Amino acid sequence: MHMLLLPLLLTFLNLSQAQPPSDAPLSSTVCIIGAGIGGSSVAHFIRKYSPDLTPTTKIRVFERNTIVGGRIATVNVAGETFEAGASILHPKNLHAVNYTKLLNLKAREPSSGFSLAIWDGNKFVFKTIEISSNLPLFDKLLKLPFIENLVSLVNSGLMFVRYGFSLFKMQNFVQSAVGSFSKYYEDTGSRPIFETVDEMLKWAGLFNLTTRTLQDELVDAGLSPLLINELVTVITRINYGQSVYMSGLGGAVSLAGSGGGLWSIEGGNRQMAVGLIDRSDVALHLNEGIKSVADLGDHYELNSTKGNNYICEVAVVATPLDEINIQFIPPISIPERKLQHTHATFVRGLLNPVYFGLKATAKIPDLVATLEDPELPFTSISVLKKHNEEESTYKIFSRKPMADTLLNSIFSVRKETIRIDWAAYPQYHAPEIFAPFILDGRNLYYVNAFENAASTMETSAVSAENIARLILSRYFGKEVNP
Ligand SMILES: *[C@@H]1O[C@H](CO)[C@@H](O)[C@H](O)[C@H]1NC(C)=O
Ligand SMILES: *[C@@H]1O[C@H](CO)[C@@H](O)[C@H](O)[C@H]1NC(C)=O
Ligand SMILES: *[C@@H]1O[C@H](CO)[C@@H](O)[C@H](O)[C@H]1NC(C)=O
Repeated sequence: MHMLLLPLLLTFLNLSQAQPPSDAPLSSTVCIIGAGIGGSSVAHFIRKYSPDLTPTTKIRVFERNTIVGGRIATVNVAGETFEAGASILHPKNLHAVNYTKLLNLKAREPSSGFSLAIWDGNKFVFKTIEISSNLPLFDKLLKLPFIENLVSLVNSGLMFVRYGFSLFKMQNFVQSAVGSFSKYYEDTGSRPIFETVDEMLKWAGLFNLTTRTLQDELVDAGLSPLLINELVTVITRINYGQSVYMSGLGGAVSLAGSGGGLWSIEGGNRQMAVGLIDRSDVALHLNEGIKSVADLGDHYELNSTKGNNYICEVAVVATPLDEINIQFIPPISIPERKLQHTHATFVRGLLNPVYFGLKATAKIPDLVATLEDPELPFTSISVLKKHNEEESTYKIFSRKPMADTLLNSIFSVRKETIRIDWAAYPQYHAPEIFAPFILDGRNLYYVNAFENAASTMETSAVSAENIARLILSRYFGKEVNP
């Protein structure tokens, strides 16, 4: 008898010695709904900040699609891979920079010196010139890093002629917002854990930008109506499918997304989400959506589309709740929000110069952008790659699907067409009202509450990092001070 008991007792003693000093539970499960950049970042930061929890804490990630990445996705045209969803990163997107290093990914700089024109439906109201090489002299004379990505340096001269000093005012406006945003990278020792989006934005000095329209902010910043109605409009339409009446913070982020030094990840940005999930020791459930989340007192029960039930002590929603149907028991309450649908249409073929009143396809600029006019059937058309004289791959953004008849008038040759309807980002209305990070006052969290501030890969990562810290401090009783 005693002989048998002894080993058991010893095991018990060993266990109690290994027990963490805090009240942290011995074993628990964190369930994450959504394997986009938000969900994968929550998993990453929980592991990064608390490696000691790994043996006792299981992380499950549920993804209703068959692949990881969410709104970051690639499309294959003529054997080449192009970004189909979230496509650009800013040089100050420090989480993305770190992910790239951590995951051994390669950054890719966008091609510079392409031509841009603004189309009003009948004519080009502004057009840059096509040039093949940068002129270093101009670089020194007129440095406008802000629009470097949109156009070549010579062309920033043309821009200056049209828009004048307003361009610099626009640049200052953007730099100030980007500077405030950088506070979210401060050391966790001095950076609070935020329980609400409002608190998080106020701390960085960004909240006020969500209370007014971009138009009002830019008028106050002294920008000319011409610049607002043309270039700024073109940029907010391309990045968020919306006009300058969107809220100011989303607008500022959108303008930052047209500046110099933009980059992406070779082979596709979605590799960030893939890599983070791979190295975060998670159980990944692909092709399995969550139908209901029921609070059963000390844990949640998640029922999936595959008919499975999962018990989770912590549950994280990392997908916009606006267009999916998850039943919460008891019900949760979040402000109503509409998502802006952006239709991305990829065409392999050749644009028809006649549509634009031109004589030759070669005269059509690499990026045709448009003004805010409900009659215009598309937002932008850009060349992704010139395969040869007869054939290029183009990406078209529009607010409605591009009908075949319309495509037939815009293109003289069309060999391949791929259409994607993205529920891409929120429709921004100032003043923004934010959903809670903590949906039920317990351990049910919502990463995408932050999307009403601005929706980008990086803002998702920033929100996810804060959610990971909330979970570690509220559930596991850990302050994060790496
Ligand atoms: C990026 O990684 C470095 C090195 O691990 C770290 O010191 C820095 O805080 C990280 N930056 C962010 C924004 O997390
Ligand atoms: C935001 O607006 C409020 C009210 O108008 C004002 O008191 C406050 O100083 C503003 N905050 C910032 C950071 O500009
Ligand atoms: C979830 O599944 C369990 C087991 O089948 C069931 O008892 C429970 O009622 C389901 N919950 C919901 C909200 O459907």
